[in-house]
Amino acid sequence: LDNGLARTPPMGWMAWERFRCNIDCVNDPDNCIGEKLFMQIADHMSTDGFKDVGYEYVAIDDCWMSHQRDSNGKLYGNTTRFPSGIKRLADYVHSKGLKLGIYEDYGKLTCAGYPGSLDHLEVDAQTFADWGVDYLKFDGCYSNPKVMDTGYPQMTKALNKTGIPIVFSCSWPDYQRASGMKPNYTLIGDNCNLWRNFNDIQDSWDSVTSIIDYYAKEHDTLAAAQGPGKWNDPDMVIIGDFGLSYDQSKSQMAMWSIFASPLMMSNDLRSVSDEAKEILLNKEIIAVNQDALGVMGRQVYKTGAMEVWTKPLVNKSFATVFLNRNTNGMPRSISMTLKDMGYNTGVDHYTLRDVYLHKSLGNYGINDQFTATVNPTGVVMVTASISTT
Ligand code: GLA
Repeated sequence: LDNGLARTPPMGWMAWERFRCNIDCVNDPDNCIGEKLFMQIADHMSTDGFKDVGYEYVAIDDCWMSHQRDSNGKLYGNTTRFPSGIKRLADYVHSKGLKLGIYEDYGKLTCAGYPGSLDHLEVDAQTFADWGVDYLKFDGCYSNPKVMDTGYPQMTKALNKTGIPIVFSCSWPDYQRASGMKPNYTLIGDNCNLWRNFNDIQDSWDSVTSIIDYYAKEHDTLAAAQGPGKWNDPDMVIIGDFGLSYDQSKSQMAMWSIFASPLMMSNDLRSVSDEAKEILLNKEIIAVNQDALGVMGRQVYKTGAMEVWTKPLVNKSFATVFLNRNTNGMPRSISMTLKDMGYNTGVDHYTLRDVYLHKSLGNYGINDQFTATVNPTGVVMVTASISTT
């Protein structure tokens, strides 16, 4: 969507995967969907280094609303859990130098059963704009995927009419895919800044790999759809939660960066481990994710156990991830020439760098073999820049 926003993949935090629809503030006041959680997350994003490396949006997901609209037909936040109102929360998030995301649904109800935007698109867009919302995730439960090609663009227009810049995140293609339709990605890219393609991420390695496999299978369609202002969204980053090992966490970060995917964390920033933080704050990997070309990397090699993915970067540079799909056993080695790694811009010599070890690996000719030794379910990730020696 050409609205000047999301020229690189959006980065931030989103409540859903980690905090779900926990509305029990009586028994679980620290972890329920309410203003306190979002304020604390904003505090940690701004003080713990996340903001400094580019994480920007603090996004509310489902279950924030009152079950009724007000007498003017407007949405409002649950008054017990958001006693100060969403506008005040937006002000607070802005005071930390961050931006606020919110969630609604194109259908009759949200996925968790709160009022949807159907027949209220303009009033809801204006409400979000009035509150100072900067990012809208627009889901597709309780609606017909066949009408989304006209319905979602109506919301694009309604948001545009407010005159307030709001990143527009669509679930449109995911619902169409799930119902057996073929999404029109040209239309989707013209109307959305990012869009979900596939199933909701869950807190497990199986879920992460199912998404990677979907992206491998649909690569050509998805890569063509993506670029500055318009991004495929493989769903939230779950590093710092319970389901991924240290190596698997490094793998998710590496792959989401090779894809040039939005980096919306869903974790508890109040208590993420130092190990998780180090991965999430890795500036060299974030630079790959945020590279100005915005190209989705592709799988250049695959055997049963090993996959190699390469993404072109500015200045004829590249990033490559070696992903070991074995879930057990020993680390495995793979040797490949740079040419076979997909370095195809006519450059003869590259300097390679390991972006997890933060270490130069020396110079390689295009026909030299590079060897990576990769832990089970882990990665080795390198960048390659034109050699000056
Ligand atoms: C859908 C979305 C999720 C989340 C939930 C909320 O499943 O795909 O990301 O927003 O709804 O109910």
